[in-house]
Amino acid sequence: MRKAVCPGSFDPVTNGHIDIVERASRLFDEVVVAVGVNKSKSRLFTAEERIAMLVEACQPFANVRVAGFSGLLTTFCAENSIHAIVKGLRAVSDFDYELQMAQMNASLTDIETVFVPTSPEYSFLASSLVKEVATFGGDVSGLIPGFVNERLKARVAERVAGGQG
Ligand code: PNS
Repeated sequence: MRKAVCPGSFDPVTNGHIDIVERASRLFDEVVVAVGVNKSKSRLFTAEERIAMLVEACQPFANVRVAGFSGLLTTFCAENSIHAIVKGLRAVSDFDYELQMAQMNASLTDIETVFVPTSPEYSFLASSLVKEVATFGGDVSGLIPGFVNERLKARVAERVAGGQG
């Protein structure tokens, strides 16, 4: 069985992420969407919230499951007998860092990184920009699933009410 991992922070999941997961699900028998829960970055959504949103977003794909992971991605892959990492590439600017990570991961264990070009309609899309636009009241409804948009608006409102907006 050919297994792959689609790793990321998914804070929150966007239509661009879902596009890559769907395409990976056609290339591999089983795809694990692995949500990084390392504490290094401050997140808008908790790990549990990010995982729950991904579970809902990935429901249409029968061979996709969602898991959280901490520590090294290569350790998670070894524990789950996964030998391929799928990453979306939006532009040449993504390539430098992604290549570095792919080569580092390959040096740590027996793993290949498969780069999938982002669909053109999502080439500008990043969770960080979605959050910034939403924070200033912009409409991101075309860029994320409807249920994610509702949670994002609620979280932004909570932050504003709590003086963190
Ligand atoms: O969505 P992101 O923030 O680009 O996801 C990055 C992620 C989580 C895939 C990456 O930071 C990662 O793999 N983190 C786990 C720690 C690790 O393995 N670091 C070494 C990378 S070479």
